[in-house]
Amino acid sequence: MRTQIGIVGAGPAGLLLSHLLHLEGIESVVLESRSRQEIEATIRAGVLEQGTVDVLAQTGLGERMKREGLVHGGIYLRFAGRSHRIPMSELANGRAITVYAQHEVIRDLVKARLNAGGALLFGVKEVGIEDLETRAPRIRYRGEDDAPRELLCDFVAGCDGFHGVSRSAIPSRRRKEYIRKYPFGWLGILADAPPSTDELIYAYHERGFSLVSTRSPQVQRLYLQCDPGDRIESWSDSRIWEELHTRLATRDGWRLTEGRVFQKGIVAMRSFVLEPMQYGALFLAGDAAHIVPPTGAKGLNLAVADVRLLARAFAEFYTSSRCEALERYSEMALKRVWRAEHFSWWMTSVLHRFPDATPFQHRLQLSELEYVTESRAKAATLAENYVGLPFE
Ligand code: FAD
Ligand code: PHB
Repeated sequence: MRTQIGIVGAGPAGLLLSHLLHLEGIESVVLESRSRQEIEATIRAGVLEQGTVDVLAQTGLGERMKREGLVHGGIYLRFAGRSHRIPMSELANGRAITVYAQHEVIRDLVKARLNAGGALLFGVKEVGIEDLETRAPRIRYRGEDDAPRELLCDFVAGCDGFHGVSRSAIPSRRRKEYIRKYPFGWLGILADAPPSTDELIYAYHERGFSLVSTRSPQVQRLYLQCDPGDRIESWSDSRIWEELHTRLATRDGWRLTEGRVFQKGIVAMRSFVLEPMQYGALFLAGDAAHIVPPTGAKGLNLAVADVRLLARAFAEFYTSSRCEALERYSEMALKRVWRAEHFSWWMTSVLHRFPDATPFQHRLQLSELEYVTESRAKAATLAENYVGLPFE
């Protein structure tokens, strides 16, 4: 089989890249190791930046998102028993976030690609990327039927997430990796419960971080900081609710609404950047090249920003045979990546309880949080990063 762009991974990065390329008249084939049912059911992100919403809407993917997504113009920071609203839209030129689950974005993308006759191959195995230093790279894999296959292409897009194979196709002497692990994880639940708040609550408490998010007027998404080594079995539903009540308590008696927990899981937290995001004919995008802790809600949004740049660079190559945009892809993408890395690290550092933290550290965190709620300049910094810097 032959195509112009071979894409490894059908997450938001791979699927959106394939969609954007299609709109530019460029052919691609997406190879995904999991099934369609699995990718459409994996619970992950929820917050879309204004720029992400605009890209999806402008490319024909906005219909359900506009109908079902929840637009929020602010967030609450909660600490020392009080909630403080950060009016993000007011501080960031009217820009807002939309709460719309990642797996809904995936469903919209899969449907759009299949309706347009796009090639999405699910359940592939043993993907290997070869001949990246040449003008004829190839991807070897086994199909769902186990038969060995080969995809010949002009370029390869590595969109296979943090645990994928693309990154390791770059020789180690040609890549630099920056990594930071955090000494905690997030336990996330979905519950059949009516909302307890009109906008997201990010809470700092001596017992650790917690977050109240939403998915719909009937379903709430809640997170709490836990030990990264915790087993989910040791967190009964009643222990989770008790911990959330404690960490979210306010002096004015606000109540968290409870409901049936129908999904729960624990994720590790890390920051990671690979430089450069290109090697020969291979271009990496999304979590394959960088990871942020979810506190800043940036991961999916960065994946979208990467593939928007990459699709434009491929379009320039195919319309004018010019390589400048492809050659600058890594540098351009990394500028936004490092901004998001810093913001996500800052949000994480100020809102979590570090196991080795001294009382001094605790007071510094409280002082920083107070300052955000009292200084318009500091709040505007949070707001413009959270709603997302404009796409250039
Ligand atoms: P992925 O979504 O990981 O997709 C990669 C795909 O490649 C997968 O489908 C995988 O099966 C496939 N694959 C892997 N290996 C292979 C292989 N060898 N061959 C073929 N296919 C392969 N981000 C936000 O922007 N906002 C949020 O609110 C937010 N909240 C989050 C909350 C949690 C709890 C978590 C865990 C993450 C959150 N994120 C958030 C981050 C976001 O989910 C990721 O950044 C996003 O999924 C990255 O998309 P991607 O396409 O790069 O990678
Ligand atoms: C979510 O709703 O899943 C969510 C919201 C905000 C975050 C991370 C995740 O920072």
